[in-house]
Amino acid sequence: MKRNAFPPNFVFGTATSSYQIEGTQLGNCGPNHWDSFAASGGTANREDGAIACAHYNLWEADLDLIAQGGFDAYRFSTAWGRVQPEGTGRIQESGLAFYDTLVDGLLEREIEPHLTLYHWDLPQALADKGGWTNQDTAKHFGDFAGIIADRLGDRLKSIATINEPWCVAWLSHFLGRHAPGLTDLPSAAKAMHNILLAHGLGMNALRDQLGSDHPCQQGIVLNMEVSVPASDDPKDIKAAAMQDGIYNRWFADAIFKGQYPQDILAYLEPHMPSGWSNDMSMISQKIDWLGLNYYTRSIIKDDGTNKFPYGEAIVPDYDPGSADRTSLNWKIYPAGLSYFLHRIHEEYEADVPIVVSENGMASFDVVDDDQVADKQRVGFFEDHLNEVAKAAANGVPVQGYFAWSLLDNFEWAFGYDQRFGIVHVDFETQQRTPKASWYWWKSFLGGPKTSAL
Ligand code: FCB
Repeated sequence: MKRNAFPPNFVFGTATSSYQIEGTQLGNCGPNHWDSFAASGGTANREDGAIACAHYNLWEADLDLIAQGGFDAYRFSTAWGRVQPEGTGRIQESGLAFYDTLVDGLLEREIEPHLTLYHWDLPQALADKGGWTNQDTAKHFGDFAGIIADRLGDRLKSIATINEPWCVAWLSHFLGRHAPGLTDLPSAAKAMHNILLAHGLGMNALRDQLGSDHPCQQGIVLNMEVSVPASDDPKDIKAAAMQDGIYNRWFADAIFKGQYPQDILAYLEPHMPSGWSNDMSMISQKIDWLGLNYYTRSIIKDDGTNKFPYGEAIVPDYDPGSADRTSLNWKIYPAGLSYFLHRIHEEYEADVPIVVSENGMASFDVVDDDQVADKQRVGFFEDHLNEVAKAAANGVPVQGYFAWSLLDNFEWAFGYDQRFGIVHVDFETQQRTPKASWYWWKSFLGGPKTSAL
C-alpha cells in the first residue's frame, strides 16, 4: 500500500472527539449528559470523561504526535459546554480561547483543522429539558454553530454539524445504549427528526456566518453499517431492510432527497413533531461535503416479536476460529467501505465530495518494552485503505481518510477498556506510547512535513 495509490490531493488525517479525550474536569466545562449517564451506571464501571486523556492540558504534545506522524489533517470536536455551559445564552470566553489556540497550534504544525460541532456531549441543562426530543435543542444548536463559525471559521478547513445522527437518535433513545439511555419509540422518533433539524439549522447558521463559497467546507458526518439478512427467509430479509432503513437510508434520504424512506416513516411518523415535513427543505439544503464513518457490518435476523423494527443483530458476527474481528467483536469487513462509497455516489449525489471521517478498530493493546505491537490494526488500515483507493480509481469523489483514533480514549458505554488509538495512553500516568500502527502511518505518509519537528 503506497500513498501514490490515491489521488494527488487526497488528505490523510486522524480523529478524536472532545468528550473522549479532553477531560471535563479540566478548564471550565459545564456538565453534560454523558456525565450523568455514567453516574447512573450507563457505562462500564461507571467510567466517564472527567479526566479522559487530559488532552485539555496535554494538547500540544498530542498535536506534535499528529505532526510527527506526517498527517495532513486532524478532525476534532468542540465541547458545547465549554463554550456555552448552559447550552444557551452566556458564552464562556475560556472555552472559545481553548479551541482558538488549538486551531492555531494545528496551523503552526501545518495540519489542516477539521471541526465537528457536536460529537455527543450535550449540555446537561438542555438534557434536563428533554434533550434531542425537544425541538428547542435544535434551535440552540444553530446558535452554537454560529458562535463557533464566527470565532474559528476563518481558519478551518471543514466543519461538520453533527457526528453520527443514528447514534444520537436511535442508539441513545431506542436502544438505550448511549446517553440519555432511553428505550422508547416516541422519544426515538422525535430525536430522529430533531437531530436532522439541528443539522439544517446549523447549516443555516454556518452559511449566514461564512457564506456558501467560503473555503471552509460545510457538511455532516453519517455512520453507515452494512446490514446482511441472516438467511433467505423473507422475515430476515425484511428485518435487514428495516435495519438498513433506520441506520443508513433515513439520514441520507433526508439530506440528499429531502424525504424520509416510506418503510420507516410509516412507523415513526405518529410520534414525530407536528409540522415535521416543513423542515425537510432546510434539512436537505446543499452540503459541501459528506463525512462517512465506517466500522463494520451486522447480520440481522427476525426477532420473532412481529413488532417494528422486526430485527436484531446476531452478535458476535464471525466464523468460529476466524481472526477477522476486533476486541469489541465487531466483524472486520473492508468491502463494506467501498460498498458505501459507491452507494452514496451512485444512489444519492454523484458530485458530493466524500471523506472517510472515521475508520479504525479496537484491540487489547499492551505496552511491552516501550512498544505496542498492534499488527492487526496495521492490517485493518491497509485493507480498508485499499478499498478506498479502489473506489477513488473507479470514479467515486472520495477525498480524504481519517484514522480513528489518535489516542486510546473514553469509548462511551465501554469505558476505557476498548482501545482504538494509534497511540497508547496509560490512563494512570497519561503516558503516550505510539503503537506500531502509528509508525506504519508515519512511514506510509513519508514522515513529518515541517523541519521544525
Ligand atoms: C464512532 C464514534 C466515535 C468512536 C468510534 C469507535 O461511532 O463516532 O466517537 O466511539 O465509533
